[in-house]
Amino acid sequence: MSQLKPDVLAAYEAAKGFMPLDEGLALYDAAVGAGRLGLPLLEVGSYCGRSTLLVAAAARESQVIAVTVDHHRGSEEQQPGWEYHDATLVDPELGLMDTLPTFRRTLHRAGLEDHVLALVGRSPQAAAHWGSRLGLVFIDGGHTDEHATADYEGWVPHLAEGGTLVIHDVFPDPADGGQAPYRIYRRALDSGAFTEISATRSLRVLKRTAQGV
Ligand SMILES: C[S@@+](CC[C@H](N)C(=O)[O-])C[C@H]1O[C@@H](n2cnc3c(N)ncnc32)[C@H](O)[C@@H]1O
Repeated sequence: MSQLKPDVLAAYEAAKGFMPLDEGLALYDAAVGAGRLGLPLLEVGSYCGRSTLLVAAAARESQVIAVTVDHHRGSEEQQPGWEYHDATLVDPELGLMDTLPTFRRTLHRAGLEDHVLALVGRSPQAAAHWGSRLGLVFIDGGHTDEHATADYEGWVPHLAEGGTLVIHDVFPDPADGGQAPYRIYRRALDSGAFTEISATRSLRVLKRTAQGV
């Protein structure tokens, strides 16, 4: 396991977000390994920057860039009236979720701003305009089938051979959570192009061993 620096660990624990520490450490470890390819490390779904910190810290170690994509308007379950809504993240003028200011504060406080290229917009549009290979694709954006499938089909073709695919919120048992991330995880394995490296709670780490989606 790669050792997370104490200041990054403290920033992670202080940041708003949903990822428990053991999953975060597994993500960091995967991102450090992926960084050795010398290619950008991509995250879909940055929210307030909690997981972004880890990808950015790994990018800093490998002297590559972390790229993160989010429209910052929140997923379905983060909207008013839903389980994961946080009223402090609503823009008072527009009455819409806006996680971008908190995301920026999180990265600034951790001293990691210079290691992140933040794309603000819809993931499929960003993927359609993306032109280079990636060492890591970490999918933690919208959790509907429409969004998870679009993230998979948009970004996985850019993942280099030997690169790492990480998927969050993979629940084989429907009683534990939504099935869309599980379905893209299964799709990756069933394609024959990926081998599973680790499973930490709902975080799955796969390595690309062949071309294909
Ligand atoms: C579960 S949160 C990400 C949490 C973050 N990875 C963490 O662990 O701290 C999902 C994020 O995906 C974003 N999102 C959902 N659908 C999206 C889409 N189609 N394009 C861009 N961002 C999207 C939401 O705005 C939200 O911030």
